[in-house]
Amino acid sequence: MQKWIMSGLLAVACIFAAALMFTLPGRDQVAQEEKPQMPAVTLNAEQAETIVNNNCIACHGDQLQGANAPELAHIGSTLSADQLYSIITKGKGGGMMPAFKDKLKEEEIANVALWLSEKK
Ligand code: HEC
Repeated sequence: MQKWIMSGLLAVACIFAAALMFTLPGRDQVAQEEKPQMPAVTLNAEQAETIVNNNCIACHGDQLQGANAPELAHIGSTLSADQLYSIITKGKGGGMMPAFKDKLKEEEIANVALWLSEKK
């Protein structure tokens, strides 16, 4: 009789473990969230300026000179395109700098990151 209980428990544990495997984020997914991979794009300055004017200057200033948020006019001398991509995607400062991953396409963020990385 006890055997049946034991194997029953074992079966339940197996189903539980299998379910966990599918619901827990995979290691790749976790890595992706920690350090988003910037897609390769060709710089489109016009598109970058439009996106920045529509999404960033309210906080960073109309010349990116800084306002309620840090200056970005020379950000390329301290941050690489990859680092910029990561900040714009995920945000910074506990939400003071908003995350743009749901507002802009990956390619748009990459283009803005590339454009900003040349501001030295
Ligand atoms: C709601 C206001 C707000 C908007 C909109 C905003 N930012 Fe920011 N941003 C901030 C604040 C505040 C910080 C500083 C966060 C910190 O360092 O803790 C910041 C920091 C940054 C940094 C890091 C600067 C550094 O010196 O480390 C970058 C890069 C940046 N923002 C780019 C952008 C871009 C590009 C956009 C538009 C796509 C944008 N931000 C839109 C508020 C904003």
